[in-house]
Amino acid sequence: MTEAHIAHLKVFRGEPGGATRYDEFDVPVEEGMVILDALHWIQGNAAPDLAVRWNCKAAKCGSCSGEVNGKPRLMCKTRISDLDLDEPITVEPMRSFPLVRDLVSDVSWNYEVNKSIQAFTPPAGLPQEEWRWQQQDIERVQEYRKCIECFLCQDVCHVLRNHETEKPFMGPRFLVRTAGLEMHPIDEGDRRGYLKDTGNIGYCNITKCCTEVCPEHIKITDNAIIPLKERVADEFYDPIQWAWRKLRGKPAAGAAGTPLPMLQGGSASDAPAAAKGDKPTSEG
Ligand code: SF4
Ligand code: SF4
Ligand code: FES
Repeated sequence: MTEAHIAHLKVFRGEPGGATRYDEFDVPVEEGMVILDALHWIQGNAAPDLAVRWNCKAAKCGSCSGEVNGKPRLMCKTRISDLDLDEPITVEPMRSFPLVRDLVSDVSWNYEVNKSIQAFTPPAGLPQEEWRWQQQDIERVQEYRKCIECFLCQDVCHVLRNHETEKPFMGPRFLVRTAGLEMHPIDEGDRRGYLKDTGNIGYCNITKCCTEVCPEHIKITDNAIIPLKERVADEFYDPIQWAWRKLRGKPAAGAAGTPLPMLQGGSASDAPAAAKGDKPTSEG
């Protein structure tokens, strides 16, 4: 095997509170190999205790998210042949979330956010067998249902990644979920107050970095975030809507709900000093 068929991987290792480091491995490259294959080779041949989370190896379960050369990616979808083998390939956990060990990060905060969103709310008293909608009405929301909850968009979003906001931000993944509910043809929920005061949609400055990293190619900013921002602006900041509500004696929309927990420091704070300056290439 020639030198050109060896990939040199620098892999983040360590646990919270302990010393962290980058271990280096030379991995023989085979045709069609992805980063997850290389990590399995390392587990089988050099470091059996290397922690990496994965499940489907088909880019559908969202488990193997991490950062390859500083960019949030699915490890099972990142072909080694697409990377420059003349340079070391850096493999790290998602840095916006707390570290569990090695390449595994703790994404449980996301499930807390998910629970805070008002669930699908069909018309009260309408039996399920009588739910009806037109195909063209449902096509719009099908895009949002493609989400595999990989949380790569949450990882790249600068609002979450920097951990510097005064209030919590729900993040792009959950703006996608909320858009799927708000735009569902028979949903009667009103999540505009939640979006404004609990999810703090105002923190998003539409940098589109979340859209760039989405493995399902969901147009997160254009099709989810911007329409939601428009709905919130119409409800709370449009003077004509405000006057119309006053005339009808109707209060502003939607309860804000229970405050979200803040996302606590990610694994960036556990990284060795030499790697702390690295930024994802598409950081939002
Ligand atoms: S557009 Fe930028 S700021 Fe808004 S959610 Fe996406 S990554 Fe975050
Ligand atoms: S919206 Fe895309 S990037 Fe974000 S969690 Fe879903 S699939 Fe992953
Ligand atoms: S292992 Fe399921 S998405 Fe990568």
